[in-house]
Amino acid sequence: MKEIVSLEDARRVYRMGQNIVTALNGVSFTINEGEFVSLMGPSGSGKTTCMNLIGCLDRPTSGIVRIGGENISLLNDNAFAALRSRTLGFVFQQYHLIPSMTVLENVMLPLRYQGVEKSRWKELAARALERVNLGDRMSHLPHELSGGQNQRAAIARAVVGNPKIILADEPTGALDSHTGKTVLSIFSEINAAGATVIIVTHDPVVGAQAKRLIKILDGKIAQEG
Ligand SMILES: Nc1ncnc2c1ncn2[C@@H]1O[C@H](COP(=O)(O)OP(=O)(O)OP(=O)(O)O)[C@@H](O)[C@H]1O
Ligand SMILES: [Mg+2]
Repeated sequence: MKEIVSLEDARRVYRMGQNIVTALNGVSFTINEGEFVSLMGPSGSGKTTCMNLIGCLDRPTSGIVRIGGENISLLNDNAFAALRSRTLGFVFQQYHLIPSMTVLENVMLPLRYQGVEKSRWKELAARALERVNLGDRMSHLPHELSGGQNQRAAIARAVVGNPKIILADEPTGALDSHTGKTVLSIFSEINAAGATVIIVTHDPVVGAQAKRLIKILDGKIAQEG
């Protein structure tokens, strides 16, 4: 098993004027390539903070975070951004699609930042949309789609460049339970196709879908399954 994510005593402290918030208080775990992990814990426990480190959106205050073998604290901003766009795909609770762009254009967007040849954008984006069963909605604008369809489009955007790691922060939080299940099954398929999937959730049903559970409480690991 090849390690793809590793945190060693990772801390993240936010300073706000006089106040110090310790969002992550010495977290250690390793995730191997191809795992499907759910990260669970109450509101404010540090899940998003942890995902921001894994997603190369933020660096630890102390401790070591390695993504794809790279210690992210040692990378300059350009190398950090390059690692992010090459290795990671993101799915958020509120989809974050660009409202003025069609679904196809939204899904094409990451390819530009990954340096993929322009002539291939359309074909790759269409293929990603077919993977999430949205082949017949490509020219729609996000507001012309249902919540579940928006989230499937967001998943297509996350996977279009074939990243090794898919991070999803409450991806079913805005969906009804039936639609949530459909979206979850897509994550399972993406995982079965080889990607490492890490999902933050409050929902035990979603958590049970993952093959491994990491529980976080007050910025520390509470339980590792
Ligand atoms: N940018 C920030 N500045 C200051 N404090 C922050 C910042 N981001 C998060 N925090 C604090 O860090 C702690 C962990 O926040 P985090 O967003 O990681 O929680 P979470 O587990 O994702 O919660 P939720 O389930 O509500 O999304 C919280 O106490 C929060 O208030
Ligand atoms: Mg959060």
